[in-house]
Amino acid sequence: MKYFLFIIMTLSVTQLKAQKFENLALTPPMGWNSWNIFQTNINEKLVKQMADIMVSSGMRDAGYNYIVLDDGWMAMDRDSVTGDLVPDPKKFPHGMKALVDYVHSRGLKFGLYNCAGTLTCQKYPGTRGYEYQDARLYASLGIDYLKYDWCNTEGINAKEAYTTMSLALKKAGRPMIFSICEWGVNKPWEWAPQVGQLWRTTEDIYQVFDSLHNYGTWSALGVMKILDLQKGLRKYAGPGHWNDPDMLEVGNGMTISEDRAHFSMWCMLAAPLITGNDLRIMSEETHAILTNEDAIIIDQDTLGIQGFKYSGKDNLEIWFKPLQNGDWAVCFLNRADEAKEVKFNWKDEIISDSLSNRKLNAINNIYKIRNVWTKKNSGTTDKTLKAVVPSHDVLMFRLSR
Ligand code: GAL
Repeated sequence: MKYFLFIIMTLSVTQLKAQKFENLALTPPMGWNSWNIFQTNINEKLVKQMADIMVSSGMRDAGYNYIVLDDGWMAMDRDSVTGDLVPDPKKFPHGMKALVDYVHSRGLKFGLYNCAGTLTCQKYPGTRGYEYQDARLYASLGIDYLKYDWCNTEGINAKEAYTTMSLALKKAGRPMIFSICEWGVNKPWEWAPQVGQLWRTTEDIYQVFDSLHNYGTWSALGVMKILDLQKGLRKYAGPGHWNDPDMLEVGNGMTISEDRAHFSMWCMLAAPLITGNDLRIMSEETHAILTNEDAIIIDQDTLGIQGFKYSGKDNLEIWFKPLQNGDWAVCFLNRADEAKEVKFNWKDEIISDSLSNRKLNAINNIYKIRNVWTKKNSGTTDKTLKAVVPSHDVLMFRLSR
């Protein structure tokens, strides 16, 4: 009997481990999502425009390859005969498959949204009770990514609900990134690595640098508030399973310095880079930030190690991220309302990361320094770094041996 129980337990553990699609999102996913700027005001024409601009603007080639439709793509009711989800016929007159095919033809992938509850956050039909049916529908449409939210889930256990949907996707047979969005409420980092490829760590982002936006029953968070909430989470992230500090607000109303700081910090966090701006009216500055390949390559580094805060004093924080080949990224983040002077003697600091078992030792090694934003070489770690960081901005470097 004991032996039998042991086999059953081993089998169920193996099954739990093997449940999600493996080898997806080995680096943090990149793409565009409709929510931050359009909310439910989405339609076929808009999505095609976004796909076209992703290609013509060079964003696809910079790595942004998923177009994800968030809440608001469905009709208010399921099909009365089949029970299937139905795309809103006014917004998507040619149906979802035609749009997915169009996006695929542009060399991009396609994502959809739903909720684990009875209704989505905007009161469209939720998936509860229809997990396997919805997964089959997504697979038949050619969907590559599912964002799965957490509204209207009273009485449901998060780990179970997300596991059920993960198993349903697997059973439907089409590899799909599963983006878990329960706002970090049920400590997803502890169970989601086996279930999906990314999990939200907080409530929604808002396009402010360092304050809250009050919606009455809940508050959305500025980018620095979200950054602070990432404390202690880096050990849970890695290739195929990422902490998600929410989608980008670059180009949605903060200053250029703030957008640059936001983007840089998301790269330091190895965060998914899902842009949320209107690509049709993107300024040159926004485009330059979003397509900075020196920053993106730090986010997408194949070691997949999330960066960490090394020090923080008087609103000046210093963050490090170990990279492949013994390289490092370093970011001086100025959260203050005035410019700050930086004086950093590399040889006085031994930066040691026990998680990745890596050390940055400028006494024994000399590193070349490249400025990620000016794209200039800035000497070596042999000399003390002296610089000024503007308010709400960063200085970001790559150090190479
Ligand atoms: C929230 C989610 C947002 C967006 C919105 C749609 O719960 O965090 O990212 O998806 O729902 O209603």
